[in-house]
Amino acid sequence: MSAQVRVGVAGAAGKMGQAVCAAVDGADDLVLAGRADPALGTTLAEILPAVDVVVDFTRPDTALANALACVAAGVHVVIGTTGFDIEPLRAAERRANVFIAPNFAIGAVLMMRFAQEAARHLPKAEIIELHHDQKLDAPSGTAARTASLMEQELGHSVPIHSVRLPGLVAHQEVIFGGQGETLTIRHDSLSRESFMPGVLLAVRRVGDLPESPLIGLEHLLG
Ligand SMILES: NC(=O)c1ccc[n+]([C@@H]2O[C@H](COP(=O)([O-])OP(=O)(O)OC[C@H]3O[C@@H](n4cnc5c(N)ncnc54)[C@H](O)[C@@H]3O)[C@@H](O)[C@H]2O)c1
Repeated sequence: MSAQVRVGVAGAAGKMGQAVCAAVDGADDLVLAGRADPALGTTLAEILPAVDVVVDFTRPDTALANALACVAAGVHVVIGTTGFDIEPLRAAERRANVFIAPNFAIGAVLMMRFAQEAARHLPKAEIIELHHDQKLDAPSGTAARTASLMEQELGHSVPIHSVRLPGLVAHQEVIFGGQGETLTIRHDSLSRESFMPGVLLAVRRVGDLPESPLIGLEHLLG
C-alpha cells in the first residue's frame, strides 16, 4: 500500500459513517477518497476505482453484497455492519482482504475477553445488551460474539436479553451468578468516537492480515 491509504466509506451519511469520515480526515496517513451512500447519491461501485480500503457501516441487508463487490474489485474491506451471514465471504474468491469486527471499541474487546475468562469459574451467566432504538438487529453482534466465546468454555448456551431505547448508544453487561455472589462485567460506548481508534487500526492493518476473512479486533491488538 502507498504511504497514504485511500479510504472509501460505505454508509458515509449514517451515524457511524459520518464519524468514520471525520476520523479518516483527521489521520495524516489516510485520505478520505470516497463517500458512498444512497442518501448522498453515490454508489459503492462509483468510488471503488479510487480507493485502497472500504470501511462498511451500512445495513445487514447490504453489507455482504458490498463486501463481495469490494473483494471482486481488489479493494480491502473493513466491515463494522452487524447482523448478516458472513459465510459467503469465506467461500468468495479472494482478491483482497476482509476484516470484520462486531465491536471496534477496545473496552468492548476487553469485556469479551474478561467474560470468557470468568466463564471458566462461574458457569451461570446471562448477557444484557442495550442499544439505541434505531438498531436494526437483535441480539447485537457483540452479544452474540460474547456468548459464543463464553460457550466455548461452558459447553452450554448463554441467554441474551436485548434492550432498545432512545438515548442509549451501545452498552453491555455480562452478569455471572455464583453461591452468594454475583460478578458484573460492563462496557459502555458513550459516543461513536469510542469505535474510531479500532476502525483506524483495522484500516491500517487490513492489507496485511494473516488470514481472511479475519474476525475480531482482538487479533489486531498486541
Ligand atoms: N462494529 C461496530 O463496532 C459497530 C458500532 C456501531 C454500529 N455498528 C453497526 O454499523 C451499522 C450502521 O450503523 P449506523 O448506526 O451508522 O446506521 P445508520 O442507519 O445511521 O447508517 C447506515 C447508512 O448506510 C446507508 N446505506 C444503506 N445501504 C447502503 C449501500 N448499499 N451502500 C452504501 N450505504 C448504504 C444508509 O443510507 C445510511 O446512511 C449497523 O449494522 C450497526 O449495528 C457496528
